[in-house]
Amino acid sequence: MDDRMVDQSMHDEESSFELSLRPTKLRQYIGQSAIKSNLEVFIKAAKIRQEPLDHVLLFGPPGLGKTTLSNIIANEMEVNIRTISGPSIERPGDLAAILSSLQPGDVLFIDEIHRLSSVVEEVLYPAMEDFFLDIVIGKGEEARSIRIDLPPFTLIGATTRAGSLTAPLRDRFGVHLRLEYYKEHELKEIIVRTAEVLGTSIDDESAIELAKRSRGTPRVANRLLKRVRDFQQVNEDELISIGTTKASLQLLQVDDEGLDYIDHKMMNCILEQYKGGPVGLDTIAVSIGEERITIEDVYEPFLIQKGFIERTPRGRKATPYAFEHFSKNNGKRE
Ligand code: ADE
Repeated sequence: MDDRMVDQSMHDEESSFELSLRPTKLRQYIGQSAIKSNLEVFIKAAKIRQEPLDHVLLFGPPGLGKTTLSNIIANEMEVNIRTISGPSIERPGDLAAILSSLQPGDVLFIDEIHRLSSVVEEVLYPAMEDFFLDIVIGKGEEARSIRIDLPPFTLIGATTRAGSLTAPLRDRFGVHLRLEYYKEHELKEIIVRTAEVLGTSIDDESAIELAKRSRGTPRVANRLLKRVRDFQQVNEDELISIGTTKASLQLLQVDDEGLDYIDHKMMNCILEQYKGGPVGLDTIAVSIGEERITIEDVYEPFLIQKGFIERTPRGRKATPYAFEHFSKNNGKRE
C-alpha cells in the first residue's frame, strides 16, 4: 500500500520515537471511557488476587489504539509484554518457543489474531485455558505427545474483525473490548497532547479542524498533525495556525469530512459507474485499484459510519444522503 493518510500497517513504520508519542498509563489515555473504566477494575482486581489478568480480546477498526492499550495494560500490571503478529507465527513450535520464554504474569500481545493458522490456534487453546502445551514429537508410529507446563500469562488478542475469529478462540477470552471511533473533542485533546510531545504548539481552531478531518481515528489525527507541522516548520511559523492547517490539508487531499482521495474514488465508483449500486466489493476493489481487505477494514467502516454507504446482500449501495452530499460538492474535495 502506498503512503496515505490511512493504512493498516503501522508496525513497519513504528519506531521507539513513535512509541513515545503514546500514553503509557491508563489515566493518560484519552477516549474509550467505557473500556478504561472496565480495565481499571479488572487490573486492580487481578493485582489484589496476585493473578495475571484474564485474556483480553480487543477489536475494532485499525488505528484506534489497540496496540497502545495493550502496552498500557502490561505497564499497569507491571509485567513485560511480547508483541507478535498472528500471520508471522508459522508453526506450532514458534508459538511454543514464545510461550515458554514468558515470565509468570507476562502479556503476550498477538496482533491480527484472526490471521493465525488453524494448527497454531489449536496449540493456543490449552495454553490459554490451563497454561500448558501439548506438543507432538516424531512422526507416524513414533509420534508421541509431550506436555509442557507454562507460566501463567495474559494473552491480548487484537483484531479488526471479531467476526473472523473462530468461536473456540473467541470464547477463551474472558474480556472482550470493542474500540469505537473517537469523538471530535477527544481527537482534539489527542492532537494537542501529540503537538506538545512533538515540541510544537497548535491553536484551538486548528486542533478542532484536524480533529474533524481525522475519521475518528487517532492514528490519522497524529499523522495529519505531523504533515501539517512540516508545513509550519517550512513556513517558519511559531504555531500551527488555521491558515496553514487548511492549506496543507487541501494539498494532502483531505476534505472537510476527512475523506481522502481513495474514499472519493470509491464513492465515485458506486455513485457514477454503478448508479448508486448495489455493487460487489470485489468489483469496487478492481475498479479503484485497491485491495479488498483494505477497503473492508479501513475505508468501508468509516463510510458506513458516516452514512454514505450501506451493506446489502447484493453488494454495497450508496445512501440517499451520499447522492445529496456528493452532488452538492460535485465530487470536489475541499
Ligand atoms: N495517542 C494515540 N491515541 C491516544 C489516546 N487514545 N490517548 C492519548 N494519546 C493518544
